[in-house]
Amino acid sequence: MPTYELIVKNVRVVTDKAIKESEIYVDNGKIISIGFHEPVHSADVIIDGRGMLALPGLVDTHVHFRDPGMLQKEDFETGTRGAAAGGTTTILDMPTTQPVVTNPTIFKDKLKVVEKKALVDFGLYAAAGMENMEQLHDLAKIGAIAFKSYTVSPPSERVKEYAGAVVRNTGELFHLLENSTATGLLHCIHAEDDSVVQYLTSKLQASGRKDAEAHCESRPNLAEALAVHQAIGIAEMTGGKIHLLHISTREAVQMIRSAKARGIRVTAETCPHYLFFTKGDMQKLGPYGKYNPPARSHGDIIALWEGLKDGTIDAVVSDHAPHSREEKDDGREDIWKAPPGTPGVETRLPLVLSRAMDWGLDMLDVVRLCAKNPAKIFGLEWRKGEIAEGMDADITLMDPGAVWKIKSSELQTKARETVIFDGMEVKGKIAYTIVRGRVVFEREVGFEKPGGGSFLAGQKAISDFKV
Ligand code: NCD
Ligand code: ZN
Ligand code: ZN
Repeated sequence: MPTYELIVKNVRVVTDKAIKESEIYVDNGKIISIGFHEPVHSADVIIDGRGMLALPGLVDTHVHFRDPGMLQKEDFETGTRGAAAGGTTTILDMPTTQPVVTNPTIFKDKLKVVEKKALVDFGLYAAAGMENMEQLHDLAKIGAIAFKSYTVSPPSERVKEYAGAVVRNTGELFHLLENSTATGLLHCIHAEDDSVVQYLTSKLQASGRKDAEAHCESRPNLAEALAVHQAIGIAEMTGGKIHLLHISTREAVQMIRSAKARGIRVTAETCPHYLFFTKGDMQKLGPYGKYNPPARSHGDIIALWEGLKDGTIDAVVSDHAPHSREEKDDGREDIWKAPPGTPGVETRLPLVLSRAMDWGLDMLDVVRLCAKNPAKIFGLEWRKGEIAEGMDADITLMDPGAVWKIKSSELQTKARETVIFDGMEVKGKIAYTIVRGRVVFEREVGFEKPGGGSFLAGQKAISDFKV
């Protein structure tokens, strides 16, 4: 009788096209088969999945775990614990750690620090800017998962944090994309027009505005629309492949839809906070509701859900951007003083699930948006994002019927006191999170110790590349 590493029994498995009652057999970290085996085989671990759905481990391609350099906000252990508790088995970490990941040495040093702390699998972005154009090929070779650039400048107190990742104008973005395209790696863009944001911020500040809504007014839909238009135009001319981060406006949804129809190589993501909150919530949320791009209007929320439904927006990711409560509270009297960003790595699935059905999306769509597509955009679809034979055994077991309230005090992030979804009633509770056959989170038991998460090198990695 063959022995497996893990068997999940009596479970409804969400595969690519259907949900079916089945068993999942896992060995050496891979899914060996899905079906019923007679007689029943033995395994090191057998989980009874009665009443639960088995989803592919979720993939969150946009997190800021702040490690190394800003450990008061988060670290790779607390960040990946949050991921595990939220059913996420793969995360991609942004390069705006300290120092900013602009060359292979910094990349390697970061990898050394974080791999010891990771509970789930992870990839690392590299920053791309005018100053490190010469480094892009080597960053691809050392295993960067993608490049990240900002079209908008950072708030003055965060200049160091974005150093090397900001382009100052359209021409620079064009030049940069020509170079990143030559490496073959995906280029991810935070698209907001800097000149519009600068002008409106100064104007609002000069008029004495310090309220939370002023943040939204300083970064209107126009700012995103202009930058998205430019990025798409440059992708078209260079033939480059771009991914648009945290899309929040109806204008951008329309432009992306038409760009895709014209065959331009563009993908896009949005985040739960853009699907839930509007500018009208800012008074209540205060500095905790300050993030970039900002909360929009109900019309934008409608456009985003329509975009998710018709495939214009490919993914829902968290943009988990934690800041300490003290840092955020600086913005209580004066919104300009709070750093932008909100935590969300642990709450993505229940939030999306709770609203998806109202907008005509089903469980398969949710899995497509939170696991399959994010894996595919970043070239990980051959091992992540789907429950199928031969794939990594990344499995999330969820009780789909559980209705519960998000309690920020129970979350793993160091920024738990700033969570804007606190108290919200949601559907679907994660019971087990399994990474390559190992249970890394079990709700009633806790977490596996850190260090078991594997580094996922990007598609252009060369294994014996030396720094
Ligand atoms: C992010 C952060 O804090 O790092 N903040 C945010 O408001 N989204 C940066 C970013 O993703 O642009
Ligand atoms: Zn961003
Ligand atoms: Zn971000």
